[in-house]
Amino acid sequence: MPSLLAGKTALVSGVANRWSIAYACAKELARNGASLVLTYEGERTQPEVEKLGAELGNALVAQCDVGQDASIAALRALLEERGVRLDAVLHSIAFARKEELTGKFYATSRDGYALALDVSAYSLVAMCRELRSVFAAQASVMAMTYLGSVRAVPSYNVMGVAKAALEACVRYLAADLGESGVRVNAISAGPIKTASARAVGGFTNILGEVAAKSPLRRNVTQTDVGNAAVFLASDLSSAITGHVLYVDAGYNIMGMT
Ligand SMILES: NC(=O)c1ccc[n+]([C@@H]2O[C@H](COP(=O)([O-])OP(=O)(O)OC[C@H]3O[C@@H](n4cnc5c(N)ncnc54)[C@H](O)[C@@H]3O)[C@@H](O)[C@H]2O)c1
Repeated sequence: MPSLLAGKTALVSGVANRWSIAYACAKELARNGASLVLTYEGERTQPEVEKLGAELGNALVAQCDVGQDASIAALRALLEERGVRLDAVLHSIAFARKEELTGKFYATSRDGYALALDVSAYSLVAMCRELRSVFAAQASVMAMTYLGSVRAVPSYNVMGVAKAALEACVRYLAADLGESGVRVNAISAGPIKTASARAVGGFTNILGEVAAKSPLRRNVTQTDVGNAAVFLASDLSSAITGHVLYVDAGYNIMGMT
């Protein structure tokens, strides 16, 4: 099998455990020849991410809380010290309080809204700014989004607004960074059972809806999404930037479901 990503280094954020979409992306990126840097949020996830990083072939594992500019700057310093240049960066991070992911959207609190937008959307801007100096020429930045950005999905609420902001950030960053050859895209994944997804009220119903009504009549797997990340990280997507790539078994095209 050809190594699409041989000689490339990919930084993957957002691995918490084996079920994380970021873990599947890291696995597929490594399987296609990329060296990995994995970042974890904090002490709670550190042991698991270190274990997974070792399994994935000696990934460099580092802490990065994207809610703190200083933490992202410390990551940049570490990468500079190790002489690491990033050919791909995956942002696979989101957070909203559980109580904001159920019931009426208008009940969203002011600080819950700010928190969700900060961690789930602004963090992509901060990561691109702080890590720009360690991007390789023609680096590929990817962010993980969901259909709730453009449709009102029950219970997804403030996270839908955060994903709309994230997708707009992708376009503005693509416009800014394109002159240095850097591409910025989003992957809009169909619903997948992960720790974050379980926090969304009625998540099982969302899975059932996609399985029953998507053109392919199935849900997507973590590997489906990982394969799309390989494509966007590779030179096969060299003229694609500012794009939202749906990996959702086609569910997003359906009307009258
Ligand atoms: N699971 C789905 O159905 C689905 C669908 C489409 C998009 N997504 C998106 O995929 C991404 C990954 O989510 P997942 O479903 O794999 O769940 P997950 O819980 O495995 O991953 C979420 C990650 O965000 C990290 N995180 C939260 N706050 C952080 C912070 N301040 N600093 C650094 N990291 C932080 C967590 O540590 C965790 O690793 C998210 O952006 C999510 O919105 C998920």
